[in-house]
Amino acid sequence: MKKISSLLLVGALLGAGFFAAGQAVGGQQSDPTAASAWKAGNEDGGGNFLSYCMPCHGDTGKGDGMLSEDLDVKPRNLSSPKFLSSKSDKYLFKVIKDGGASVGLTENMTPFAEQLSDKEIRNIIAYLRKEICKCEFKED
Ligand code: HEC
Repeated sequence: MKKISSLLLVGALLGAGFFAAGQAVGGQQSDPTAASAWKAGNEDGGGNFLSYCMPCHGDTGKGDGMLSEDLDVKPRNLSSPKFLSSKSDKYLFKVIKDGGASVGLTENMTPFAEQLSDKEIRNIIAYLRKEICKCEFKED
């Protein structure tokens, strides 16, 4: 039950973001600055990280987002270079697009295939490398 309710909460949260995006794209926004701010967020990995990943992983990726306390399996600390440099971009892409369950992890790490384009996912991975872990993939 606990897990289901937190997933619903995430759904509601992401749904709200989606609604805002729809409004901006539909040109209904009266404030052009707000619309362009959203648009920038939509294209840029950092903006999307804050919209879609921060609720669980936290703004600096440490795994301490506001939803994290309700999750039985805790979000990963993405700011750890040791952790993220052991993961290839191809692997990260799959986890983000198809979700944790697709690689044998918890379904608390939800799939983003519906919310994010392939390009947006690649931009988030670039943001993770440049700003969150400040690390590159190192093959061992
Ligand atoms: C609903 C909460 C939630 C959201 C939202 C979320 N994650 Fe996660 N994420 C998790 C949890 C929980 C784990 C830990 C999975 C495990 O260890 O089984 C995780 C794990 C990960 C991992 C590590 C996978 C591994 O091999 O251990 C990456 C990378 C990741 N998330 C990236 C992201 C990105 C990027 C986003 C935004 C597009 C995101 N997550 C959004 C909960 C979330």
